[in-house]
Amino acid sequence: MIRTRLTELLGIRHPVVQAAMGYVSGPRLAAATSNAGGLGLIASATMSLAELEAAIAETAGRTSAPFGVNLRADAPDAAERVKLIIARRVPVASFAQAPRPELIAALKDAGVVTIASVGARRHAEKAAGWGIDAVIATGSEGGGHVGAVPTSLLIPQVTAAVDIPVIAAGGFFDGRGLVAALAWGAAGIAMGTRFLLTSDSPVPDAVKQLYLAAGLDGTVVTRQVDGAPLRVLRTTMVDHLEEAGAGAAGPDAPLGADQIGELLRAAMVDGRTDLGLMSSGQVAGLIGDLPSCAELIQGIMAEAGRCLDRLDEARKA
Ligand SMILES: Cc1cc2nc3c(=O)[nH]c(=O)nc-3n(C[C@H](O)[C@H](O)[C@H](O)COP(=O)(O)O)c2cc1C
Repeated sequence: MIRTRLTELLGIRHPVVQAAMGYVSGPRLAAATSNAGGLGLIASATMSLAELEAAIAETAGRTSAPFGVNLRADAPDAAERVKLIIARRVPVASFAQAPRPELIAALKDAGVVTIASVGARRHAEKAAGWGIDAVIATGSEGGGHVGAVPTSLLIPQVTAAVDIPVIAAGGFFDGRGLVAALAWGAAGIAMGTRFLLTSDSPVPDAVKQLYLAAGLDGTVVTRQVDGAPLRVLRTTMVDHLEEAGAGAAGPDAPLGADQIGELLRAAMVDGRTDLGLMSSGQVAGLIGDLPSCAELIQGIMAEAGRCLDRLDEARKA
């Protein structure tokens, strides 16, 4: 057992969070993670309010352990989503960016733990100043939208800057990484790609096989999807976008928001690998198996224990 400020804050057995992934982290994956002693997060940006309500009910039916909902702070119905989270007594609300201080206060008053994702120190400081309980700091090797600073530099910088628990993300997959994150001052790790590649993840097998086949050079950060840097699997479609749209970003980006959502959904839900848009961390290049969430978390904790023993031995020697 490794106790940290995160396990204390969330009431979970292991300092391991399953990062939110649109169309991927629904009730099945979130509940499997929470049942394994980590924290599962439902990704709600790709769900309607009614779908989120159903997902919360299903997750609560699958686990009695704490779980959370991830939402966009800038969603037009963010306040309604927050009301739903409070009404359904969801233990944790996590935000893709820090929400307004009023929303944080409303959640905290209702006893909901609040977490914000950040990719830069100044965002962590701002969120901490607004009263957020913890941050997930994600380095540039992570999947999906990413900042410019790699995990090995971002985590020590953020943990030195804020007093709240910092959850390290971007490139984590094993027990050695957990110990490294703790050494940098983090209180735990969050992983996306690693949880996508589990037997509990609902992603079609053909898609999982594509991730498993990727090497460390198998992902690319592109601005040609929605204008913001997005780390995705390198596919023919992404290569074409990069060539066609070089220089086009923001409103001139080649794909509209609806098209992007459709392409992501088609891959993650329908298994359309041919359409070629799949968010992925670089860590896909180091992953070669599909354990269950329970096997994954148990393996990480066992390896972290061995790693700490080894370090202890080195200190005594
Ligand atoms: C397939 C996939 C989908 C993702 N979708 C979202 C999302 O909808 N919202 C979000 O805030 N982050 C999303 N992310 C980013 C993750 O929450 C997390 O920051 C990232 O996976 C961490 O890096 P790692 O993949 O190296 O573990 C996604 C990541 C992946 C791999």
